[in-house]
Amino acid sequence: MSSTGLNRTLVLEVVRVTEAGAIAASALNGRGNEKAADAAAVEAMRKAFNSLHIDGRVVIGEGERDEAPMLYIGEEVGAGGVAVDIALDPLEGTTICAKAMPNALAVVAISERGGLLNAPDVYMDKIAVGGGLPDGVIDLDKTATENVEAVAKAKGKGVKEMMVCVLDRPRHAKLIKELRGIGCGVALIGDGDIAGVIATTDTKTGIDMYMGSGGAPEGVLAAAALRCIGGQMEGRLLYRNDDERARAHKWGIEDLNRKYTMTDMASGDVIFAATGVTDGTMLDGVHRTPEGITTDTVTMRSKSKTIRRVQTLHGYDKEA
Ligand code: FBP
Repeated sequence: MSSTGLNRTLVLEVVRVTEAGAIAASALNGRGNEKAADAAAVEAMRKAFNSLHIDGRVVIGEGERDEAPMLYIGEEVGAGGVAVDIALDPLEGTTICAKAMPNALAVVAISERGGLLNAPDVYMDKIAVGGGLPDGVIDLDKTATENVEAVAKAKGKGVKEMMVCVLDRPRHAKLIKELRGIGCGVALIGDGDIAGVIATTDTKTGIDMYMGSGGAPEGVLAAAALRCIGGQMEGRLLYRNDDERARAHKWGIEDLNRKYTMTDMASGDVIFAATGVTDGTMLDGVHRTPEGITTDTVTMRSKSKTIRRVQTLHGYDKEA
């Protein structure tokens, strides 16, 4: 029988799941095969979920049941226990991994039932900042310039000292031009906007804000991370055609233009874990050493605001 409320040991147990996904994907690091790397991560993560004491329901996964054999939306995972919802991305940054570039991650977020936005696989317009700033400092309804000015003022720096992370895409040409036009720096990333959003929370990255559109599922995962680390984020779903609008309706979204706050996307008690696949701003990637395989994971919980870093050596010689 399932119980409610997140179990604190889940914060530690979930590490095995992201580690498994990252190790499997890393075997295909730099092999130029996005699909194979993703499939390896999915399979390993799916298997690892069997060891978690949860009654898990995938709300953000690899797609709909007819398009994904494993970890599809609605799939039930876990060995039985606490009733939870799960958002996952077994390989965030399939191209990054295929090209052996920085910041590919294996990611999982867990919430109490109903705590994660059932976001369809469409784009989401996103804006995010790290913690310690006044509530409401960012607003998706304002221009990029107004947002940068507000955050710069709150941080006590000039606009020209600001750095905004943006996905390097033609669709962002106007945004990039506007940001450069006000003299602010633009840190372009090729892929991986979960890491891009999280980078705003760490002063060492030099990234002050995240702006632009990317995957909506990644938006929900990033919101879950910020709920734990601290920060603010807003998102709005973007639709390219009627099919995407219909998909949103199917997912129970009535107001297609709704602006989601971070808490709308990830509410209640939330756990977020990510293991590095390739070396990145937040985490080291998977490395194969003579002693074993090393992994680097961050696992955190919104309720306790604990952020744990788990560095694991997975030895080659297992005892029976
Ligand atoms: P995948 O891991 O699915 O390849 O996603 C990588 C990613 O860069 C995400 O981080 C981001 O949200 C999305 O793709 C952006 O989509 P697009 O490449 O279509 O601009």
